[in-house]
Amino acid sequence: MGLAVTRDPRFDILFEPVRIGPLVAKNRFYQVPHCNGMGYARPRAHAAMRGVKAEGGWAVVSTEEVEIHPSSDISPYIEGRLWDDRDIPALALMTEAIHKYGALAAIELVHAGMSASNLYSREASIAPSHIANPASYAPAQARSMTKADIRSYRRWHRAAALRARRAGFNIVYVYAGHSLSLAMHFLQSRHNHRSDEYGGSLVNRARLLRELIEDTKEAVGADCAVAVRFAVDELRGTDGISADSEGREVIAMLAELPDLWDVNVSDWSNDSKTSRFAAEGYQEEFVRFVKQLTTKPVVGVGRFTSPDAMVSQIRRGVLDMIGAARPSIADPFLPKKIENGDIDDIRECIGCNVCVTGDHTMTPIRCTQNPTMGEEWRKGWHPEVIPPRTGEDSFLVIGAGPSGLECARLLGRRGYTVHLAEAGEQPGGRVTRESRLPGLAAWARVRDYRLNQLNKMQNVEILRGSRVTADEVVEFGATRVVIATGSHWRRDGIGRANCRPIRGFDTKRTVFTPDDLMDGAPVVGPVAVFDDDHYYLGAVLAEKLRLTGLRVTLVTPADRVSAWTVNTLEQHTIQKRLLELGVEVFVNRNIVEFSRSEILLECTYTGRQTAIQAAAVVTATSRLPNDEVALSLDAMPEAVDAARIVSIASIGDCHAPSTIAAAVYAGYRYAREFDRPPGDEVAFQRELTDIRAP
Ligand SMILES: Cc1cc2nc3c(=O)[nH]c(=O)nc-3n(C[C@H](O)[C@H](O)[C@H](O)COP(=O)(O)O)c2cc1C
Ligand code: SF4
Repeated sequence: MGLAVTRDPRFDILFEPVRIGPLVAKNRFYQVPHCNGMGYARPRAHAAMRGVKAEGGWAVVSTEEVEIHPSSDISPYIEGRLWDDRDIPALALMTEAIHKYGALAAIELVHAGMSASNLYSREASIAPSHIANPASYAPAQARSMTKADIRSYRRWHRAAALRARRAGFNIVYVYAGHSLSLAMHFLQSRHNHRSDEYGGSLVNRARLLRELIEDTKEAVGADCAVAVRFAVDELRGTDGISADSEGREVIAMLAELPDLWDVNVSDWSNDSKTSRFAAEGYQEEFVRFVKQLTTKPVVGVGRFTSPDAMVSQIRRGVLDMIGAARPSIADPFLPKKIENGDIDDIRECIGCNVCVTGDHTMTPIRCTQNPTMGEEWRKGWHPEVIPPRTGEDSFLVIGAGPSGLECARLLGRRGYTVHLAEAGEQPGGRVTRESRLPGLAAWARVRDYRLNQLNKMQNVEILRGSRVTADEVVEFGATRVVIATGSHWRRDGIGRANCRPIRGFDTKRTVFTPDDLMDGAPVVGPVAVFDDDHYYLGAVLAEKLRLTGLRVTLVTPADRVSAWTVNTLEQHTIQKRLLELGVEVFVNRNIVEFSRSEILLECTYTGRQTAIQAAAVVTATSRLPNDEVALSLDAMPEAVDAARIVSIASIGDCHAPSTIAAAVYAGYRYAREFDRPPGDEVAFQRELTDIRAP
């Protein structure tokens, strides 16, 4: 990043201070609440991550959902927790880290009502009416709250607000978003069937939200700002809250009550839409009315990474502050980079939602673009600061895919001499190839950010069109060799459902791999896509083929299309898209044989077999590492020694095929850790339970 402040005056407006109730935010950059798989369980890691955001220039840095009471326990998910005073010190770590850089700390107080599993606390879940949680198949129901329950809930919320202030928070949220909070469940007529003053008319259904705002203002409003996060549209027409009826009416009704409105759409999958299904700024059409109804500052979101788009939101009167979750994860220093005029150093979010998977898998957050995310405390990694080189090593990195590019970038930044050899003319490996598929154009940002950085370095040379052999490696003269040659898709059908080749999958003429399709192989229909990979690619290829007019069937042994994308919030949208395009879908079906014009399917439950017509098969099952160079070098240790090569390492997909995020992480990790002192075997710091504490 540049040292001098050379901000483009066009962006000055983004750095104007904004008054929020009794406080002033130093600029218009607002990190909205986002969970991270660290929460109450890993408070040091959590605090360090938020501290880096504050250091990166965000004026407001928020927590994730923070549970306020044992009856709002959303186990097994790991969010924030503020059940009683004993939770204060862990959260205070976070506010200290944020205040160190002059940012305001915000806390999102949440009672998830019927969405709280209470699996840990064993409390009964509560709701406006007796109801089973529509988002879960758990054999339990939430019970209807009595008036006494409502009074208790208001007391818990007030107590949590007071504790939040003691923990050092400046902004306290009342949350009515994502269909994940009691305040929102009361607003929703489909969940609120009450006949008392908290049910029926919208005024009645909004009563609880109004009371919570008033309670919170009364409790902490003298020195904290009170924000409301409200989903103005649920994207479910008249069955839900919508921006042209009840969403608008709620804002009109409560317009001046909170100190700030943070508005978005619901549910979470609509709010955090991936780039495959929504472009930057996609929420504007729903939230733009809000500023016309209130004088309070309005925050909104929409995967904002372009400073021009941000300025446009402010100038056109859509938003007062630019809310961001994913852009702040991909680049915690986004505001600082705009401020310093380093626009082309911004690591733009690619909209893949790998960051969301941490929540679903209850593990620390990770990000495709930012390999340091979640590693700030446990590995001491920083998104912008890296230690300088420790020796005179020179590097040959083979393969300029996501792993090789990241490895070369970081080695280059550390000051090492690096040669990056790429077999093809175009760097980027799988991200270049996949970014040409429908909806995946933003994947190219993984390549573009890194190429852009590498192009500025004198000490890194990219050798295009250089397919190197093991013999050439030993002759090259580098002291360290990093192999990042990627992987290729299997043709034989071996994957999760089949440990042996599928009969008939041995002909190149009619059985195609994803690589064949990405290389432009001509496929005739009817075609069956066999998806035993379960991430995005099978469905994307089915979509691509269908868009060319072919008859397409998708066959998967899973119970749904792209089953793993439940974790990226996309599964429903992906399956909907295929069905709408007219792709025929067979779930719970394995393929046992492909003959010239027929595929034999087998039910994964009964073993019953049926045949479907297909002239071709596209098989996305599993991948094999491109490890020829690594294996050849392994077989010639004398030549390697004679060439004074100190180390040879395989990273990314050629080590073990995985996600693009894992490949980028592997590249970063190698460049960061290859010279760790001997004996430094601890993988990362852990937050261990202190068994001495009561
Ligand atoms: C990893 C992740 C976790 C999130 N967790 C929360 C949360 O705890 N509370 C909340 O209100 N919104 C949560 N959100 C939604 C974001 O606050 C935001 O509204 C949404 O992602 C759209 O903004 P963006 O395009 O800037 O990411 C989360 C989003 C992400 C990506
Ligand atoms: S994981 Fe993907 S969606 Fe999430 S912040 Fe990183 S690049 Fe963006």
